[in-house]
Amino acid sequence: MQSQIRDLSLAPSGWVKINWVKAHMPILNSLEEEFRQTKPFQGKKVAICLHLEAKTAYMAQVIAAGGATVAVAASNPLSTQDDVVAALVDSGITAFAWHGATAEEYTNHIHQLAQFKPDLFIDDGGDLTNVLHNHYQEILKDIIGGCEETTTGIIRLRSMANDKALKIPMIAVNDALSKYFFDNRYGTGQSVWDAIMRTTNLVVAGKTVVVVGYGWCGKGTAMRAKGLGAKVIVTEIDPIKAMEAMMDGFSVMPLIEAAPLGDYFITVTGNKSVIAYEHLAAMKDKAILANAGHFDVEIDKNALEKLSSSITPGKPNITEYHLTNGRTLYLLGEGRLVNLSAGDGHPAEIMDLTFGLQTLSLVHLLHNPNLAAAVYSVPKEIDQRVALLKLKALSIKIDKLTPEQEAYLNSWQV
Ligand code: ADE
Repeated sequence: MQSQIRDLSLAPSGWVKINWVKAHMPILNSLEEEFRQTKPFQGKKVAICLHLEAKTAYMAQVIAAGGATVAVAASNPLSTQDDVVAALVDSGITAFAWHGATAEEYTNHIHQLAQFKPDLFIDDGGDLTNVLHNHYQEILKDIIGGCEETTTGIIRLRSMANDKALKIPMIAVNDALSKYFFDNRYGTGQSVWDAIMRTTNLVVAGKTVVVVGYGWCGKGTAMRAKGLGAKVIVTEIDPIKAMEAMMDGFSVMPLIEAAPLGDYFITVTGNKSVIAYEHLAAMKDKAILANAGHFDVEIDKNALEKLSSSITPGKPNITEYHLTNGRTLYLLGEGRLVNLSAGDGHPAEIMDLTFGLQTLSLVHLLHNPNLAAAVYSVPKEIDQRVALLKLKALSIKIDKLTPEQEAYLNSWQV
């Protein structure tokens, strides 16, 4: 199939970015070396619908090194880096994506990816899974399986499975310990603040940061805000997570009470309209709004428009909403996940773990081609292997259970 991208001549800059991350992703380095020998994906087509930046590109190349024919499309129109996509095409991978694709173009690219008829696929947020199930039933029956990267996508998959609508085995990569302990917590924690700081160039210390949602991504975002010297408020709907936030040392209150206090608001819930009209109307002048959830639905942009007398573009990745009450609110990255729309995503060393899990989960699907249509966990051996590969790369050794200790743990008689 013919690639649909912005400009192939951008490839040299994309290669520089890919080579940089490659030097910092030892798990993928070792899998690449292994796959070059073993060719686990020989003769298979692998579709990848992820944020198309350098780390993703390197994973796509590792899978291609394992013998696969690979095609990619974006999982978000603003996170696509055109130079990286050009480098992918330069390396023989088919791509359907460009930065700033309209909603129609974005969907069309995912349709192209479905028409590539993959044997295996990796999704982030569930858009490819949805398009395949809603429009390409005839292709579904030949798909061995797929992996899903993110919390939002897994919520969608579970509701599909409950409705008996899911027709293929899917591995919930997000639920692996080596994923959410590191990617969701430390990856989001760092990349969200990296994006906010590089976009605004404003101070965080001494400011009030409101983190909306205290899942693993919210925990990382709040933890890093604290480390930057902010006063942190957490808002939650889950009593246990609210307790946890309180015991982690954060103020906890309803969002409507936090609204007039915050200098920064960061949504990390996976839900829609969590920052709604009444919250926006109560915010102080020059408050900064950012979303770190997968879709751009968490901050109600319609409500922002209704409250505004004018809307003007600010610095790159900042939209200024001038409210009829005389205040201005700043929305970063159009309310799309800020770390990828206004930054480069999680650090390479973190995505190394996540993409190690993705890649090995695809191999697991290949070795188990007759799994029933359902949502599966990443096998524990893969989770542990990825963590061990990382420790090895860091030259960190750990202890082993003695045979007596193992026997002790496995016995119920004292
Ligand atoms: N880079 C590629 N995919 C990513 C993701 N899901 N989150 C953060 N950074 C990424």
